[in-house]
Amino acid sequence: MSEDDRGKLEPIETASVDELRSVQLERMRWSLQHAFDNVPWYRRHFESAGVHPKDLESLDDLSRFPFTTKADLRDNYPFGLFAVPREKVVRIHASSGTTGKPTVVGYTQNDVDTWAHVMARSIRASGGRPGDICHISYGYGLFTGGLGAHYGAERLGCTVIPMSGGQTEKQVQLITDFRPRIIMVTPSYCLNIADEMERQGLDARACSLEIGIFGAEPWTNEMRAGIESRLGIDAVDIYGLSEVIGPGVANECIETKDGPTIWEDHFYPEIVDPDTGAVLPDGEHGELVFTSLTKEAFPVIRYRTRDLTRLMPGTARTMRRFDKITGRSDDMLIIRGVNVFPTQIEELILKTDGLAPHYQLAVVREGNMDTLIINAELAPSTADSRIGDLEKALAQQVKAYVGVTSRVVVHAVGGVPRSQGKAQRVIRS
Ligand code: DLL
Repeated sequence: MSEDDRGKLEPIETASVDELRSVQLERMRWSLQHAFDNVPWYRRHFESAGVHPKDLESLDDLSRFPFTTKADLRDNYPFGLFAVPREKVVRIHASSGTTGKPTVVGYTQNDVDTWAHVMARSIRASGGRPGDICHISYGYGLFTGGLGAHYGAERLGCTVIPMSGGQTEKQVQLITDFRPRIIMVTPSYCLNIADEMERQGLDARACSLEIGIFGAEPWTNEMRAGIESRLGIDAVDIYGLSEVIGPGVANECIETKDGPTIWEDHFYPEIVDPDTGAVLPDGEHGELVFTSLTKEAFPVIRYRTRDLTRLMPGTARTMRRFDKITGRSDDMLIIRGVNVFPTQIEELILKTDGLAPHYQLAVVREGNMDTLIINAELAPSTADSRIGDLEKALAQQVKAYVGVTSRVVVHAVGGVPRSQGKAQRVIRS
């Protein structure tokens, strides 16, 4: 990024750490008081933990406040945790959980503005500029991906193509005809689009895209390298979750690509030990927890994301970053006592010449034991005769690097189900 471009960043992005911490403390006081005053559940929750918003004298005092979990959100379904009268809520989104009721979140007009603002900042950090054409393939609807990206791209001054997910042939047609510079999509669906380009005989590297803003699911740096070389683009990581606002909680900066920068002036991060809840120092691995600092309709205090990572110091910005998310604590497979994350398998698949980047894992009970089945797929130009060797080679790698015995099945091209949005990496029977 040139000095001139850096000058166009918001002052808070390059403020001193002291300045940032003082903004956070002031906003955190407001957010705790707001939740306490306007959400009966938070008032009871704080009181039963013996804390009051006035107890927050420094940012570290946040650790005295109790956590909020997904179960708390479900118990208050649908609108029980809103902190403003329902008439002030201009938008509802919801994320479908794997079990039971969806998690419902709400936004005031100011919240929608804040969201557009952090999303515009995210697209800018990814290298997007006013005037760029931005093709959005995140799903529109209750999922926050599509509309979140849409409002942010408009706010930055882009020409937005609200394509949404699915209709892969049409995605390719619009990319070819409208010549967008930016695509916003899950990494797994991007692979699907790239396959379709190649199926149509197009050279994916020759397409107009220069930047991909990928998130909504865990993905590895190996996947980044694969997508970048295949499409000839810069691939940057965007993170967010509905409960905290949607996409745009954190975004990687294109000049460093070293993990998403958390927009800490709006979302305060902590890393805690997933078992004990103890706050861990920056640099240590654990579960990411967020406290919203400016949200009106749906404040969250110490929300347990279940996402596993570590905090790292700022590089391209003052704000801290986190490492690529290894997975969610509830996605972790325990195979015969060994913890396995789908991303570990992804890394090995991407390193295996002859395999496509599509995969799905299944865990099946055989006798008293769980068996991990890795469904992988042959890369398009690879001979079928290599299947046996590839299966053996991947199983060996998984045993050596992850420590579990697995059964690898390499399918013919197209044999692994494709994602249209978030990939389903694990099938449990
Ligand atoms: O997935 C919001 C989003 C949309 C983010 C588009 C980025 C782009 P939810 O459906 O509530 O919201 O799912 C949130 O998805 O807790 C993570 O487990 C996972 N996730 C999101 N972004 C990333 C990422 C959206 N960049 C859950 N890397 C989160 C890894 C991610 N996991």
